[in-house]
Amino acid sequence: MKTLTVDLPGRGYDIRIGAGLLARAGELCRGALPNASRLFVVTDSHVGPLYLGRVLPALKAAGFETAVSEIPAGEHSKSPAMLARLWEEMMAFGLTRTDAVAALGGGVVGDLAGFAAATILRGVDFIQIPTTLLAQVDSSVGGKVAVDLQHGKNLAGAFWQPRLVLMDPDTLETLDEGTFSDGMAEVIKYGCIADRDFFDFLTAHPSRGGVMGEIERVLYTCCDIKRRVVMEDERDTGLRMILNFGHTIGHAFELAGHYETWTHGQAVAAGMSWAARLGERLKVTPPGTAEELQGLLSAFRLPLDIPCGGETMAEAVGVDKKGKGDEITVILLSRIGAAAPTRMKKAELLSRLKQLREEERT
Ligand code: GLY
Repeated sequence: MKTLTVDLPGRGYDIRIGAGLLARAGELCRGALPNASRLFVVTDSHVGPLYLGRVLPALKAAGFETAVSEIPAGEHSKSPAMLARLWEEMMAFGLTRTDAVAALGGGVVGDLAGFAAATILRGVDFIQIPTTLLAQVDSSVGGKVAVDLQHGKNLAGAFWQPRLVLMDPDTLETLDEGTFSDGMAEVIKYGCIADRDFFDFLTAHPSRGGVMGEIERVLYTCCDIKRRVVMEDERDTGLRMILNFGHTIGHAFELAGHYETWTHGQAVAAGMSWAARLGERLKVTPPGTAEELQGLLSAFRLPLDIPCGGETMAEAVGVDKKGKGDEITVILLSRIGAAAPTRMKKAELLSRLKQLREEERT
């Protein structure tokens, strides 16, 4: 088992990474929650049948009284209505302020259960047990929890750090190809923004089998980068923005597909490819970077481009949480392995992107 510590004042926690850890969930959760007697477990209709059988007996053996809420799998469950359902179920279970919530599943389960934990009884402890690659390398670490509103994704939420993140790479074996690739977009992102050696390592292992052969190292490296960024900028006012490489343009692609045609990872992959091209055009990024990145994205069957009209792009840039007035911070690369946050006018960004699109057509 590998351990990383997210060292935050008064709310530090460990990230435990290791094959077979689900079966040790009881002792590990007990270590993080010495005084809790009840644990409310949130999972989904896909993950529950696969892994509850391993996790619940371990929790019970460690002395937790458990209740399970199994939500329908899918993004539509990340809603205020589902949040309200969880609140009522938690009260019906008799949850008190010394008890806790555990999220067993991917990003939707983690974000929803985390926000429920942040808000029920004005906040109870929370454990993340992420089971997808995307949740293991990104959403389970760092304390961002939220639900979606009709106006957009993650618009109602909180910063609520977990007490423990427990990841068992064995759970990745049951992911379909698309869901695995989806997570690879975020994995590749870490190499781009912070670690050239890691990018080279991925380039030398350009397949699911290659990555799974070294999965603990991959999870450790990604979580270590994220942990360091979060420790420096928990509230996302500065450095944490670098985690958004590929996301501003990616959000436009997600919007263009009404959040259904393209997964988050696919949209981020195409967004990173565009951000690299934009960086080259602005002479922030060395020539050849986009081609190198595109080679790695293609190896994991991730898209390099997604059809998107100018109006949709403008809408996404307009609502970007990293925007301020008519300016926006776009994350470019000064090279593979180093992010270059670049402030620019939203109008300039949109006209540059339009220009790139037109050049592509000719
Ligand atoms: N997923 C980006 C962040 O945690 O800041």
